[in-house]
This record gives sequence, C-alpha cells and structure tokens, in this order.
Amino acid sequence: MVDPLVEAAREAQRHAYAPYSKYAVGAALEADDGRIFTGSNVENASYGLTNCAERTALFTATSVGVRRFRRVLIVSNSEPPAPPCGACRQVLAEFGLDLVVRSVGPRTERQWTLRELLPDAFTPELLA
Ligand code: THU
Repeated sequence: MVDPLVEAAREAQRHAYAPYSKYAVGAALEADDGRIFTGSNVENASYGLTNCAERTALFTATSVGVRRFRRVLIVSNSEPPAPPCGACRQVLAEFGLDLVVRSVGPRTERQWTLRELLPDAFTPELLA
C-alpha cells in the first residue's frame, strides 16, 4: 500500500514555485488526528525570501490551529533524498522533536527523527 503522504507530497511538488532553482520540493505533514497538510517551496525574485516546502506545510497546518504532528514526508528529485534544511529543522522543532522525517527521492528513501536531525535543539521549553 502506498503511503498517502507520498501521494500528497508528490501533488504538492507539482505546485512548487521554483523558477530560479528549478528544484521542486513537496512536503506532506501528518497531524496527530490523521489530517494531512501539504506545502511546496515558494521562491521569490528576492532569493532570500524563499519559503521551503516543509515550512509552507507547517504554516498551513498551524494557521488552522493544528499543532501536533506525527510525520513529515518530503519529496524531491535529489538522490540521495534530501533532508530538511537547517531553518526548517528549527521551525519544525517548535512543535516536537519526536517528529518522523521521511524523504523520498526518485529511487530511494531515508528516514530520521527530528531529534536526530537537530541534536541539542533550542526549544520553547528553554524560554520557561
Ligand atoms: N528547499 C525546500 O523546499 N526544502 C528543503 O528542505 C531544502 C530546500 C527549496 C528551497 C529552494 O526553493 C530550493 O529548494 C533550492 O534550495
């Protein structure tokens, strides 16, 4: 059975706005309640304002009040499959380090926990 997150992330990848890098990324984030939120990268003529697919998906979910997540799946054309960038790791970490991060490329896939990808993370608890 195909993971529904793969299909959702592939669909999001098709909507990537990446005229500068030509590197299309799709992400699908699975909430604790099973809902799936997707995002793609959105580039900008002012390059530094680009938003990655993972953050687009996260902001979509949090914008409707969803804050608890199980997994995020990333689809790109990289081989080996790309891990999330540092900025996305930090933004995802806001909502928990147990998140399973799976990345699917054209031929292979890889999986981590966010804790593995961002050791010694700066988290909201540190502000308490
Ligand atoms: N990108 C993502 O969407 N996610 C990542 O984790 C890494 C990079 C995007 C940003 C930019 O539009 C393009 O990939 C090339 O860096």
